[in-house]
Order: sequence, then structure tokens, then C-alpha cells
Amino acid sequence: MSIDQRPIILTGDRPTGQLHLGHFVGSLRSRVGLQDSHHQHILLADAQALTDNADNFEKVRRNIIEVATDYLAVGIDPSKTTICVQSHLPALNELTMLYLNFVTVSRLERNPTIKSEIQMRGFERDIPAGFLCYPVAQAADITAFKASVVPVGEDQIPMIEQTNEVVRRINRQIGRDILPECKALLSSTGRLPGFDGKAKMSKSLGNTIVLNATDKEIKKAVNAMYTDPNHLRVEDPGQVEGNIVFAYLDAFDPNKEEVEELKAHYRRGGLGDGTVKKRLEAVLKELIEPIRDRRNELAKDPDYIIDVLKAGTEKCQIITQNTLNEVKAGLGMFKF
Ligand code: TRP
Repeated sequence: MSIDQRPIILTGDRPTGQLHLGHFVGSLRSRVGLQDSHHQHILLADAQALTDNADNFEKVRRNIIEVATDYLAVGIDPSKTTICVQSHLPALNELTMLYLNFVTVSRLERNPTIKSEIQMRGFERDIPAGFLCYPVAQAADITAFKASVVPVGEDQIPMIEQTNEVVRRINRQIGRDILPECKALLSSTGRLPGFDGKAKMSKSLGNTIVLNATDKEIKKAVNAMYTDPNHLRVEDPGQVEGNIVFAYLDAFDPNKEEVEELKAHYRRGGLGDGTVKKRLEAVLKELIEPIRDRRNELAKDPDYIIDVLKAGTEKCQIITQNTLNEVKAGLGMFKF
């Protein structure tokens, strides 16, 4: 039997809504590419989603299937990538409890992502304890799989740093390097802005394009896209920086050379917003159509999606339980 030498990846999403083009450029596209060169696991982080959605279990439950359908629709192949449901991996909770003894509250309060999320969600002093501790739970996720590569967005870098601190503390305590350190793998395309020009695409802002958007929805989003407000007449020189239509062309148009020519033309003047938008509309339609068709096909058979999740979760139960056993033994916990 040959031993799988490929680096291990763990990545994940909080199932709080359907995935959109921001996820596509930020992570989905690279996951499809990584599943051959790496041993890839994807976690549907429902338990983590509940740390700030405790009043909405229904939303989180429903979106597990939605997000899993998105995965398969973009080409994540369950025979290559294991997809699992976090709340069904009890070893993760046990690891979290152990790790919490190696992390201080003040360290958690200093995590920059946690700090900004506390502000954004208006928790002030009423921070749910589960929320404050989720970076430790994420350290449990990553280490339980012994992942060395974690493809994430920039906002997750503090989680990776905190994970590596936990890794070093645990390894030091055990006296052996049981857990590997991990590194973040950032997407080469930066964050995709919302089509209204806001820095972030987010469902709550209503500025996303979902992966099964209809042609009509695509057209509407593209038409609403923010361009250069000073580009009033076609013959005027226009600005490409901060122009959302060009940001999207950069992210999605396969013909980079032509995009550069368009940019030069736009800067010189003589290229209308309408023409650029038409091109983007065509590019997005071509990208989304096959994903939408697959997604609609998959949605007809929810039992298949459930089977995929069940099989993946069972595999991951074994992997995570093995790591837990190793850590407990290493730390010298009581054993019957
Ligand atoms: N925190 C990640 C997010 O909000 C989701 C996540 C949970 C995750 N556990 C993970 C990502 C482990 C990578 C690895 O998107």
C-alpha cells in the first residue's frame, strides 16, 4: 500500500447562507484545483456558525445542505475531497476543552478578528463565551486533521497564528511534535467587492451574486455596478481603480490581455461603461451557467447530498478521534 504523502488541507465555511462569487474567487476555485495535489478536507462549520447565531439554529441547519450543494456544483469532487459536518465530530469539542487550558482570556480578547467581530456585532461586554473561544475551537479543527495548509481569507490569519500558538504549547507540554504547525494559503485574487462598490460582498448587505444566479439577476447586478462617477460621457477618460466592473473583469475574465487593452482604452477615453458592462455580463453568464445547471440538477436529489455528507463525516470522525486519542495519551490523561 502506498502512503499518501500529499500535504493535508483543512478548510471550511460557516453555513449561514448560499455561497456567492466572493467565495468563488476567494476559496472555491482554488479548492477545486487543490483537491488533486493535496489531501483535502472541507468542514461545514455549523458549530462555529452557532457561536453568533444561537438564536437561529434553523438557518444554520438549512444552509448545510445549501453550501454542500454549492461545493459539488463548482466541481469539488467527493471522491477526492472529504466534506464533513463539524457538529458531528465530537472529538473536536474534546480537543477544544483541552486546548482552552493552554490559552488565556486576554489572549482571546486580543485576537484582531475577534475584536473587530465583537464591534461589528455590537456585543460590547455581552460576549457569548462560545464566540470568544471559537479561535480555540478552530485550532481544534485544524489540528485534529493535522492540516499543514489552510486556505482562508486574510481575516482568518489571526486564527492561524493562534492555532500555531496552541500547537507549540501542546507539543511543548507533551515533549514531542505531535501536532504540525500550519500555514495560511491566501487566494491570489484579493477580496471581491460587492457589486455596489462596498468593500465586502455579503448576503446581509444584499450586494452578492449567488452561484445559481439567473441571467436576469446577473444582468441586474452588472447594470447596478458602480463605475467611475466622473466618467460622464463616452469620450471622457475614465478611472479603472475603484471601478467595480474592472475589478470583476480582473477576477473572472479569462482573457487578461484583452482586459488590459480595455483598461487602457477606458483610461484614454472613448470606451463607454455600457460596453464594458456587456462584456462582464457575458463573462459572468458563461461562468455561472454550468454551475447553476449542476446546482439545479443536484438540488433535485437531496438524499445524494446527505449521503455524501454522511460518508465524509464518518471518515472524519475516525481521523479526528485518532488525533484526540494521541493528544490525550501524550498529555498523560487518565485511561481505564
Ligand atoms: N472561520 C472560518 C470562516 O469563518 C470557518 C472555519 C471553521 C474554518 N473552522 C475552520 C476555516 C477550519 C478553515 C479551517 O470562514
